[in-house]
Amino acid sequence: MKRTLLNGNERESIERWAKEVVPSLLYSETPDDLAEVICPRRTKNLTLPVARPIKKVMALALFSLDDTLPSRNARAFVRCALLNVGQWALNGRKRRTSAADFRNKLAATLQEMLNGLSELAEQLGKNAVNPVLINDSAETLDKYEPFTSEKAACAVSSPPYPGIHVLYHRWQVDGRRESNAPYWLANCQDGEGASFYNFADRRVEAIDMYFAASLRTLNGIRKVLENGAPFIQMLAFSDPVNHLPRYLENMRAAGFEEVLPAGTARIQRHVPSRRWHATIKGELNGAREIVLVHRAV
Ligand SMILES: C[S@@+](CC[C@H](N)C(=O)[O-])C[C@H]1O[C@@H](n2cnc3c(N)ncnc32)[C@H](O)[C@@H]1O
Repeated sequence: MKRTLLNGNERESIERWAKEVVPSLLYSETPDDLAEVICPRRTKNLTLPVARPIKKVMALALFSLDDTLPSRNARAFVRCALLNVGQWALNGRKRRTSAADFRNKLAATLQEMLNGLSELAEQLGKNAVNPVLINDSAETLDKYEPFTSEKAACAVSSPPYPGIHVLYHRWQVDGRRESNAPYWLANCQDGEGASFYNFADRRVEAIDMYFAASLRTLNGIRKVLENGAPFIQMLAFSDPVNHLPRYLENMRAAGFEEVLPAGTARIQRHVPSRRWHATIKGELNGAREIVLVHRAV
């Protein structure tokens, strides 16, 4: 979806949807067949009082898609906006989001996404580039075009962080109650557990699992890079003293050397307002992200 361009008709229909349908997504409306859209199995914990109005507005939005948008791409575009705004409204929020705030944010997000897409189309037109999005593990990159015949000149990545467990596939509504609603909005299967997205699960011994999975993906990336190509990554470490050397060892094992000229230091930043700080017991190292610059050797 991130690289799917829309035609004029699709774009106009989304603009119309934002202008005409979004203001009509009212908590008080209950069309006859709405219950079919709200599947309780796919909207866990959205019956909580903080979530109920937003759930209703999201359900009305999904309900309208088939009748108001002309193609699968246009509908997928709106589903992406609903995912973005749904997460903003419900995930880890201290304050309640009103239905009106949700509608305003949804209209603004759709416009922002359309603007971004115009910019992308312009750049692609200028440079005659055809971006490829591979939706698979980095371990398998060499199985896909263009890497079956070409190598990349550079890689940029932000892999899962060792010892830092992020709940990518759930929203935490009203404290810690987890909702699987992202899959409901995206209309796809919730088929994988948390470890699928983190290289490992929450157990202490899972750190070995993390480094094994990390090495497999680093090998996968190395296979599709030209010799000498830079590889830039951003990571955080819950236990930098033990995990940073292990990560650097993985990098060497996969065929990379660090670019860190004498007298320089790795770039670091303090991460503003990341919820996962709270998940690191008594430990704030994970609040700092560092940039690793390597070269394929
Ligand atoms: C620290 S986050 C980086 C998110 C990224 N910066 C973004 O904006 O989408 C780590 C990401 O790595 C993804 N991931 C986990 N295992 C992977 C694998 N084997 N291959 C590629 N990506 C993976 C996770 O799903 C997660 O989105």
